[in-house]
Amino acid sequence: MTVEWARGGPDLLVALDRGAGPLGVQIQDQLRAAIRDRRLSLGERLPSTRRLAALLGVSRGTVVDVYEQLLAEGYVESAVGSGTRVAAMPAGGPVRHAPDVVAAAPPRPAEVDFEYGIPDLGSVPLTAWSWAVAEATRTLPTAELGDEDPAGSRHLREVVTAYHRRVRSGCAVAEEAVVVSGFRQGLAFALATLAQHGIRRIALEDPGPREHDVIARRAGLDAVPVPVDDHGLDVGRLRETGARAVLLTPAHQCPTGVALGPSRRRDLVAWADEVDGVILEDDYDAEFRYDRQPVGSLQGLDPAHVIALGSVSKTLAPAIRLGWVLAPPRFVAGIVEEKRLSCRGAPGLDQEALALLMESGRFDRHLRRVREIYRARRDVLAAAAELAFGPDRLQGLAAGCHALLRLPEGTSERAVVATAATMGVRVNGLGHYRFVAADAEAEPGPRPPALVLGFGNVTEQQISRGIRTLAKAVRHREIS
Ligand SMILES: Cc1ncc(COP(=O)(O)O)c(C=O)c1O
Repeated sequence: MTVEWARGGPDLLVALDRGAGPLGVQIQDQLRAAIRDRRLSLGERLPSTRRLAALLGVSRGTVVDVYEQLLAEGYVESAVGSGTRVAAMPAGGPVRHAPDVVAAAPPRPAEVDFEYGIPDLGSVPLTAWSWAVAEATRTLPTAELGDEDPAGSRHLREVVTAYHRRVRSGCAVAEEAVVVSGFRQGLAFALATLAQHGIRRIALEDPGPREHDVIARRAGLDAVPVPVDDHGLDVGRLRETGARAVLLTPAHQCPTGVALGPSRRRDLVAWADEVDGVILEDDYDAEFRYDRQPVGSLQGLDPAHVIALGSVSKTLAPAIRLGWVLAPPRFVAGIVEEKRLSCRGAPGLDQEALALLMESGRFDRHLRRVREIYRARRDVLAAAAELAFGPDRLQGLAAGCHALLRLPEGTSERAVVATAATMGVRVNGLGHYRFVAADAEAEPGPRPPALVLGFGNVTEQQISRGIRTLAKAVRHREIS
């Protein structure tokens, strides 16, 4: 069936702005968009060139050119005697911006968001970063704008290994470092390399960061859970799994907030030696320790068996998306090859900027500044939680930007989380981080109910308000 140009006039479809560039281009763009969006439907006849030119007040030649262009691009077709008609678009083709398709409304943002793992976005050192990018742009040798080393810029590898030695008591050198686009990318490359080395199974903390089991499976490894208690990963249980690799967050366990105890560190290293195993150290939150100097990296304790993974997602911002893998020499070539095949390298100018930021002392200054901000937030959180829930309900306050709030026995985490959401507070229960089959979300089983409170990107006022609301949500669940 053919449909005639049935509109009141082309001005409904084509609106010309005489001050905004060539008229032919405007007509072309608008007709193309109308055809894509199906405002002009298949077979619909366009007005004759003479009529459209008259209606729009442009020369006929302009319209002829437009139709010829659309014809050449396949938007319209023309046949002697039947004029110019809208051509068939591919099925399920590029229907965009259809006026009757209303995008789902975005969820209303929470007034207080206790999502863990987000640094204070208002404190990202943008001035220092712009300085570093400008310096990198000004000073990076022209040759380095071309082919790059897939291991990452030599300069940045030297700077991050020096940083890791100085601040994290590590002992890696630049030859053992690979620059990656954040922790997760480093993890994927390291796991693929372990698979190449014949490692088949990896143990993960339970509870632990989400989706690491998915990443492990994609790399071809079998992922198994190992419980975490008040001293961190249970190394006895790790032994029982038969895994030869383990991934853990020793400095500030995600999400329980405990640090791996000294005897556990020794046991872990002994385990790695016994089974020729590999410890993947997610050195996450390590820079933010409040009561004492941070506990050193496991990499410094056992460089032959530890792969340390660092990232600036928490110390600067996720948007910078740079990190590093520090690996025993036998794994370095494999990780570099994974990186080369996947993405050739990380952005060279950004790598240079990060190297300059760290070398110039600006990175350290930023860390000192935000550590005080987080310390103040942590103190407000501790006071508010004590007032609302009583003493000793919080765990993991010594470091990092999240803590665990233990709820009264018998409280349903899920119910509290759902009730809090209706009151404008977003938070996750500990069950959210349990190691479970991919699609299930378990209630916390034998573990007492608890909430994970990230306080990196919430103000002190929001923390106080959020904790009061959580207390109300808990009371509400008790009486409902
Ligand atoms: C446990 C843990 N480690 C590391 C990171 C940093 O990851 P990335 O560098 O990929 O942003 C995150 C981010 O949220 C995390 O939750």
